Formats: sequence, structure tokens, C-alpha cells
Amino acid sequence: MVRINEHYLKLQSSYLFSTIGRKVQEYQTSHPDASIIRLGIGDVTRALPATIIEAYQAGVAEMGHDATFRGYGPEQGYEFLRSAIAAGDYRSRGVQISAEDIFISDGAKCDTGNIQELFAADSIIAVPDPVYPVYVDTNVMAGRAGSFADGRYKGLTYLDSTSANGYVPAPPETKVDIVYLCFPNNPTGATATRDQLAAWVEYAKKHRALILFDAAYEAYIRDPEVPHSIYEIPGAKEVAIEFRSFSKTAGFTGVRCAFTVVPQECMAYDETGSPHSLRTLWNRRQTTKFNGVSYPVQRAAAAVYSATGAVEVRELVDYYLENARLIRTAVEAAGYHCEGGLNSPYIWVETGTDSWAFFDRLLSEAQVVCTPGAGFGLCGEGHIRISAFNHREKVVEALERLSRIL
Ligand code: MLT
Repeated sequence: MVRINEHYLKLQSSYLFSTIGRKVQEYQTSHPDASIIRLGIGDVTRALPATIIEAYQAGVAEMGHDATFRGYGPEQGYEFLRSAIAAGDYRSRGVQISAEDIFISDGAKCDTGNIQELFAADSIIAVPDPVYPVYVDTNVMAGRAGSFADGRYKGLTYLDSTSANGYVPAPPETKVDIVYLCFPNNPTGATATRDQLAAWVEYAKKHRALILFDAAYEAYIRDPEVPHSIYEIPGAKEVAIEFRSFSKTAGFTGVRCAFTVVPQECMAYDETGSPHSLRTLWNRRQTTKFNGVSYPVQRAAAAVYSATGAVEVRELVDYYLENARLIRTAVEAAGYHCEGGLNSPYIWVETGTDSWAFFDRLLSEAQVVCTPGAGFGLCGEGHIRISAFNHREKVVEALERLSRIL
């Protein structure tokens, strides 16, 4: 008899964004004339910048000639891209990351979901609440959580992120083994200061814990005081893995390219307390289960670091940031307290009411899709997340519609 992984039975029946997609589709089917504006899932809408398209096409053209054709690439990613990342994302900010510590992948969602395979089944996991659901669900699948009751899984340590702490949780009093942090945060849009991150690095060192730092939205940081990388904090390389993505930076949600930094210094321990290199373990995992990202895609990603590519990508991010500013300004003018939208494409709106009911109301009365805060955890109740990823005219129209009903 084929048996299932019973931990899957503890999961909520559907992934958050799948549930929202289904609800929106049902509404569209029953209201075929409705012109729905999607400010729900953080999916980019603008075309890839010209320099990136050129590099992408050149990569495809190379595949069309025997002399330049490539089969399997290196599982860790081509050296040209890893070196460009080490220089463009890190050295330029005074952070020394070796190209050997960078692993190219097809998405930060996959990497943040897969990384937990490296850790003991009884590891104590801490997640912020609200939280990007992938961190929680993948640990539930792996058996690191108990049953779901009253909005939370037993066995996980939840770190409340509320207006009371500026949506940046401090390290807990208790000892955890692994903590997921995401800044600029999904879903709240909050950013962490250097001191706040330094407190986490200190905590991790003290407890020999590990920080899984999701920096998928770092390109949205415009405040020069806000750190872009956990590695800007001294000592972080020993206790942190960082995830980044080209999805929201360069419009790659459909192209698929991201990377994970696992510094050589970063260790985890066996039951005798002996250290083991996480870079070695991640490399072992990736070489077994992953065959790399396609050559043309990696060429396209490397173009992000070219002189013209960098300018075009910044312009792309600025466009969504201007959407975010417009959304935050309009929602605040309607009398709601907001977080995010300044160094982030997400605006976290305190509605004070049932968030799925608020979602339904925006959909039925304004045909605008948001994301209900409760979908990100207990502390998300009473909030909605509005995404800045859409065309300007759609955002402006959505705000006009919202101003009529809010
Ligand atoms: C989101 O809307 O939170 C993101 O699109 C999720 C993701 O990047 O997987």
C-alpha cells in the first residue's frame, strides 16, 4: 500500500496564492464583464529591460551553433554570473563574498523551501508572524510542526511582528535553532536597521543558531541607512544564509533566476557538536537534485550587472516604487495606517476588520484584488497587503475605485 507523508495532512488545504487565484477566477466567471485589477500576488507586469533581452537572445543564439552550444551547465551556476553577483551585489557595498559561496537557482521560493532539508528533523524553527507561507509550509511538510490550531502550528516559534515593534521582531528569550528573517519584509514591507540585524547575528552566535535571510526585495531599498544584506553585519557569514532573486529586481518571475549565498564559514553541527560546512551540504544537495538554470537565462541575469542593465533595472524598480508611493499615499488619505511601500513594493494596511471579509469587499465592490493579512498568519488578521506590481494606469484606476468605497 502506498502511504502518504502524513505531515501533508496538517497543511491548510491550499497554498495562499492558489486560494486567492481560485477566488478571483470564481468572481470573474460569475461576473464576466468585471475588469479586475490585480494587486494581490507580487508578480511583475513590465517587460524585461532592453539590455537583458539582448543578452537573453544572444544566449539563445549561441545555443543554435555547435561551436557555442552548451549542454548541462555547472549545477552551482556559471562562473560569469557568480562573479558578477559577488562584485555587483556585494563588493560594491564593501562586503566580500566569494563567487564560490554563490549558488544560482531557479527561484528564492524553491531555495527557501528546499534549504530546510539540510537540518535535523527536530530543529526548533522560528518564523515571524505574519510570514511568507513557504517558510512555514515546507517545515510542516518535513515534520517539524505539530497540528494547526487557532491559526498556528504547534511546535513552531512565532515571532509577533506588529505595529508595537515596528514589524521587526527582536530575538526571543528562548533558544531556537533556525530563524527565517525577510527584509524588506514580505508581507509588511518593513525594513530592519543595522542594529536590529546585529542583535539577530549576536543571538545566532550565542546559540549556534542559523539565520535564513530572505533579501528578495533588497533592490527596493532607497534609504541609504537600511542594510541590503545580512552580511553587512560583522560576523554574519558564520551564522547566515542569504537568498536573493532576479524576480522582483529585474522582472524575472516568468524567466526564473535567483541565487543563494552559503558562505564557507557558515556551519551547522552534528549530534556530537562537531561543525559541518553548510556550503558543502548545500552543494551536495543541489548536485543531486538540481541541474542548474539554463544558459540564456544566466546570460540575461548577468546583464543586470552591466552598465546599461543596471540603469534599466533601477528604472524598473523605481517604477514599482512610485506605484507603491501612490498606493500608500491614497490609502493613508482614506484614513488607514500603513507600513511599507517606501523601501518595498508591498503596503501593509491596518484595516482592523476580518481580512478575508475585507478582501471579498474590495473584490466585489471595486474589483480590486489584494492579499488578506490572515493568509500570512495570526498577526496578519486585521490587515491586507497591497502589491505595487502592476501598470501605472491600473494602479491609478484601482486607487480611484478604492477611494469611492473606503
Ligand atoms: C508574493 O506575492 O508574496 C510573492 O509573489 C510570492 C513569491 O514571490 O513567491
